[in-house]
Amino acid sequence: MKVLISGTSKGIGKAIAKYFLKQGHEVYGLDVLKASIKNDKYHHHVCDISKDKLPDIKDINILINNAGVQNSNDIDVNLKGTIRVTKKYAYQQNIKSVLFNASASARSGFEFPEYVASKAGVVGYMKTVAVDLAKYGATVNSISLGGVITESNKPVMEDKKCWDEIMKVTPLKKWASLEEVCDWIYFLTVTNKSMTGQDVLVDNGELNLNNTFVWPK
Ligand SMILES: NC(=O)c1ccc[n+]([C@@H]2O[C@H](COP(=O)([O-])OP(=O)(O)OC[C@H]3O[C@@H](n4cnc5c(N)ncnc54)[C@H](O)[C@@H]3O)[C@@H](O)[C@H]2O)c1
Repeated sequence: MKVLISGTSKGIGKAIAKYFLKQGHEVYGLDVLKASIKNDKYHHHVCDISKDKLPDIKDINILINNAGVQNSNDIDVNLKGTIRVTKKYAYQQNIKSVLFNASASARSGFEFPEYVASKAGVVGYMKTVAVDLAKYGATVNSISLGGVITESNKPVMEDKKCWDEIMKVTPLKKWASLEEVCDWIYFLTVTNKSMTGQDVLVDNGELNLNNTFVWPK
């Protein structure tokens, strides 16, 4: 299948691109940075999804909106850029699945305000796309990840005090690996044929399993 992924030069997007290539798919990547994957079936386009002209790539089957930032451009990149990409590539009859990489913070509110707003916006937008693309038989969902073991998270992972504090409120006492995140995304976009319009929370129990039950002793 023809798979388009945004943010493929680093982190989660790069891991997803390599995972799909390994399964034999044709992968197109969009990133502000140059390519970091070499493979005959990988086609890289350098572009800023929030403002550059998006390349003409026809008949995409799977769109994975992954590119995201945590800085003053949160809303422009994570929300408006994602909407630009989705409008350009997903609204056509060959589309089979769209996946948005949202964030657990879209539900909890526990992160930088604009980042939370951008990701909560993505979850809302995902539902409108699910309604629109149902006529093509496409599934459209989002994944809301808690912590993932990535390069960009190294500062917090390597700070013992921070890490211990995070683990105290994480019932499964770990973060998700890149391999597991790829398995989830592959399942949601390729295996899944019947779930649509849903946001899937994958956060090691951080949001839902903290004990808030209060009762007199
Ligand atoms: N890492 C985590 O723990 C975590 C948790 C929840 C959600 N997420 C989400 O997952 C996604 C990927 O996160 P990551 O940790 O791999 O980040 P990352 O910073 O390692 O990688 C993001 C990639 O997106 C690209 N990018 C940034 N702005 C862009 C733009 N305007 N146009 C095109 N490409 C652009 C970057 O160059 C980079 O290659 C993000 O949307 C993030 O919000 C990550």
